This record gives sequence, C-alpha cells and structure tokens, in this order.
Amino acid sequence: MAGSQSNRDGSGRPDGDRSACGPGCACAAGNEFSAGEVRRELRSYRKSGPPRTTRWLIEGLRADGVDGLTVLDIGAGVGAVHQQLLADGAARAIDIDGSPAFVDAARDEAARRGTLDRVRYEVGDFVALAPDMEPADLVALDRVLCCYSDMAALVRLSAALAGRRYGLVYPRDTWWMRLAGRLLNGVAVLFRRRTRAWVHRTADVEALVTEAGLTPRSHRATLYWQVAVYERPVA
Ligand SMILES: C[S@@+](CC[C@H](N)C(=O)[O-])C[C@H]1O[C@@H](n2cnc3c(N)ncnc32)[C@H](O)[C@@H]1O
Repeated sequence: MAGSQSNRDGSGRPDGDRSACGPGCACAAGNEFSAGEVRRELRSYRKSGPPRTTRWLIEGLRADGVDGLTVLDIGAGVGAVHQQLLADGAARAIDIDGSPAFVDAARDEAARRGTLDRVRYEVGDFVALAPDMEPADLVALDRVLCCYSDMAALVRLSAALAGRRYGLVYPRDTWWMRLAGRLLNGVAVLFRRRTRAWVHRTADVEALVTEAGLTPRSHRATLYWQVAVYERPVA
C-alpha cells in the first residue's frame, strides 16, 4: 500500500502496483498541485521564508561556499533552495518539477529577484528526463522522495548527477510517519487525489546514495523529517 516503506527491491512500489505516482504518471508529474495551493505556498514563502528543514538543507549544501557552482533543484516547488544558493553566489540553476503550477510560481519568484536569466526551467518527471540532464555541482531534493513511488530510480539517477554535494529532505522512517502516510493516503483516496505520501526506508535511500560514490556529510532530523547531505570525495 502507498505510504508504506519501500518494498524489497527498494523501488517503493508495492509488488504489482504501479497505480499511484509511478514514473510518467500525471501525479508524479505534479498536476495534482493546483494553482490555488501553489499560490498559497508562494505567499507563505514570501512572508515567512522557507521552513526549517529547507534552511538546514541549504546550510548543508553551501557549507564550503557556493561561488560559481551550478545547482540542480529537483521538485523545486517555489524555488526556495536554488534561489538562496544563487543569492549566496551560485552561478546557475536548473529547476525541474513535474508541476507546471510550481514552475510558474518559481519563475515568478525568479523574476521578482532578478535571477530569471540564471535559471533554466524544465517541466516533467525527472526520472524520465534524467538521461538528457547534465551534471551539477549541487543537487537538491527537498521533500520530493515522499511524493514519488520509484525512489530507487529517483535517487540513483539524481545522485549520479551530483558533482560535489547532494542533499535530501525526506520523511523519517518511523512508525508514526508510516501511520501518518497511511492516514494521508486514505484522505487522498477519499478526495480522489492521485498523489500518495511515501515513507521510503532510510537504509535503502542511504545505500543507493553511497553506491553512487557519495559519502555522508551531515544529518539532522525533526520529529517528522530528516535532512541528509552527502559529498563526493575529491579524487
Ligand atoms: C511536496 S512538493 C515540495 C516542493 C519543494 N521542494 C518544497 O520543499 O517546498 C514536491 C514537489 O516535487 C515534485 N516532484 C515529485 N516527484 C518528481 C519527479 N519525479 N520529477 C520532478 N518533480 C517531481 C512535485 O511536482 C512537487 O512540486
């Protein structure tokens, strides 16, 4: 069932079930995020800034400075991560998001900050588009794993593109988060939404990131979320 942990193959997909948020599915492509929801998110970001876990992710990614670096922000939402890294000195960013409404909001924010010419926008499923994406120094996935069933593909393909650092915010793998996932998914079914919340196994995520040649750099957690930053050792 969606909302549970990854299954044994690490895909996060219950055996035989590809119905919720599989690659290429419209909900993985983010179409469930309505323009109204996204507008509220953008208003809240402009009023209060990013949430604590996003701030931790940014801190972890920029720890040794970001001057001139490139950023790949997957599932960027309103663009909080790459906008802050650009403000801190990163050269350019790619924002790839399955949600056209979120990409519009991120563009709006970039226009407001005068960074539009430093960001490239892609609408679509990262897993499908990854073969055509170039590597970036810093790769971020802020609360994206929890929206996507095929965690293995998402992590493997994104970690491979990280030249220096790789950061994730994703749900803690605890009984209360699995319970919360089941409740959220029950509500989603009730309201006929196609999005599902996924609580993937931490050990599976970590194994895939380290297989990609990255080593742990920092780890912080709240009651609900974990923020993990990795780096690629200098050869
Ligand atoms: C919960 S929102 C988080 C947005 C933002 N990163 C934040 O933390 O506020 C998840 C975002 O990830 C996007 N997303 C999920 N899976 C994706 C995928 N495979 N490729 C591209 N975007 C994806 C969704 O469209 C959505 O915009």
